[in-house]
Order: sequence, then structure tokens, then C-alpha cells
Amino acid sequence: MLYLIGLGLSYSSDITVRGLEIVKKCSRVYLEHYTSILMAASQTELEEFYGKKIVMADREMVETGLQEILRDSDKEDVAFLVVGDPFGATTHTDLVLRARQQKIDVEIVHNASVMNAVGSCGLQLYNFGQTVSMVFFTDNWRPDSWYDKIWENRKIGLHTLVLLDIKVKEQSIENMARGRLIYEPPRYMSIAQCCEQLLEIEEGRQSSAYTPETPAVAISRLGAPTQTFKSGTIEELADYDSGEPLHSLVILGRQCHELELEYLLQFATDPQNFKLKVAKDQEYFKPEPWRPPTQDN
Ligand SMILES: C[S@@+](CC[C@H](N)C(=O)[O-])C[C@H]1O[C@@H](n2cnc3c(N)ncnc32)[C@H](O)[C@@H]1O
Repeated sequence: MLYLIGLGLSYSSDITVRGLEIVKKCSRVYLEHYTSILMAASQTELEEFYGKKIVMADREMVETGLQEILRDSDKEDVAFLVVGDPFGATTHTDLVLRARQQKIDVEIVHNASVMNAVGSCGLQLYNFGQTVSMVFFTDNWRPDSWYDKIWENRKIGLHTLVLLDIKVKEQSIENMARGRLIYEPPRYMSIAQCCEQLLEIEEGRQSSAYTPETPAVAISRLGAPTQTFKSGTIEELADYDSGEPLHSLVILGRQCHELELEYLLQFATDPQNFKLKVAKDQEYFKPEPWRPPTQDN
């Protein structure tokens, strides 16, 4: 059997009881470690907690070395651990499909994900639209397909969860060109960098999907002992020091309920000013009031 097991967001003990029982009986244990990190537990701590050796599975291994992960899992129990939930944000559907094609049984053990824990900033999950990913811009690659999605969400009043890029096991262009397997230190996008990139693209497009004054909430290290939230405008958050990773950002939609707002005010440096910014932003995309048809139309 192949087990995909969610680890939750932070501590080694965030794994579910059923997840832990399964890990303990598996003959091989892989940890997917290129889309997220467990903030309050190292590999060694996890190995001690499970009483098992862990193989760290990077992108290359998961995308091109699936066969090794699936090896013998029709006869043995193999665990593939995913930080958060196995289907939260990054869906490991390819692994499941490949296993099923090879008649390998698959079982999923779910856990908390950034996709639901984000609700602890006070915004209601029902009011979220499409989630987008912000990648690190380079000199000649500044992808902005997320912009239209934010625009669509904001048009119908919904909040947008922005997930921030992570780069682990990245090679410099020079090392890649020379075929040297030397990797750069891991990089995690900060809230400030994300907001700067948002502002740059809006400035270029001028379509007002949002403005520098649009309210947002920065969410750092969800589920970790140092979890923090900061409410502010995109412009203000472009100067915010969000500290250690991981981070996510939520851009507010027009449908911001008064209870949601009350919650967010706890995290604002100047709550009165934040409230004014929310009121101003809510005028964006506000539909015309509905009027019953008359005989003329
Ligand atoms: C590609 S998603 C993977 C999600 C994971 N499988 C899950 O279910 O939570 C990784 C991104 O989600 C966000 N994220 C994940 N965990 C987070 C946390 N604990 N606090 C804040 N943001 C987090 C970060 O933006 C990170 O780069």
C-alpha cells in the first residue's frame, strides 16, 4: 500500500494518530520537501519521533523518480509524507494516478493545510476565491498570470489567498551550465517582496485589480509557536518585516463582513486608518443597485 500522509503545519506531533501508526509500520518513508516545510521540526527530530529513517524527496525525485518511490509498494507499505495536507495547494495527484495504473492501493491520511488554517486570520473560508501563487521575479522572467485571477476574485467581492514562492535545491545558472551539482541555500519569499511584486505589476497594467491602498493581511508561520498576522495596505506591507518563513498573504475582497473586519483590526498598527482603507476599497467593483425593469427596458 502507498500511503500519502499529511503532517500538518508545524510540530512533529501535528501528525494524526492514524498517520503516526501507519508511518511506524512502513518499510520506506519519504518526505516531500520542496513545496513546504515543517517549521518546528527538523528531519532528525522527525526520524526520532517516528523511529524511522526518512528519505528527503526533492522535486526531481517526485517528478522523475516516481518509480523508486512506488517500488514494491504493491507488496510493502510505503509512506509519502506531505507537509500540510497531501491535497492542500500542491496536489500529488500524479503520484496517486501512477500508483493506481500499477494496481498499487493508495490511502490518504488528511491533515490541516494552509488552505484551511488561513481562516485563523479571521477571514471566512467561504469568502475566498481562487488561490494564486507568487513566484520570485528574475531579470527576464516576471510572470503575472495571477493578476487576472485576483481581478476576477475582487470583481465578485472575494478574498484572494496568495501563496509565496519557495526555492529549495536551486542551482545557479553558472553551476547548471557547468553541470556542477552545487545548490544555493533555500530561499523563501517574504511578505514585503510579494507586495513589491504586486505593486510593480499593477503599475504596469493599470487595470486596478487592486491599488497600493487595498487592504491585505500578512500571515506568517501558521500553526508555529511564532505565528503572526499583520493587517495593512499592500503599500504598507511592502515595508513590513515578516521574519522567518513561511508566509502567505490575503488580499481582501469587497465582501468583508463586519466580524471579519473586527478580527483584522486586532492586527493593524493603526486600526482606525485600516478601517477607513477597507471602507474605501469596498467601493471598488461595487455593483450598481438592482432596479426592477420598467416598461421602457
Ligand atoms: C505550495 S503550498 C503547500 C501547501 C501544503 N501542502 C499545505 O497543505 O499546507 C506552500 C505555500 O503555502 C504557504 N504556507 C504553507 N504553510 C504555511 C504556514 N504554516 N504559514 C504561512 N504560509 C504557509 C506558503 O506561501 C508556502 O510557500
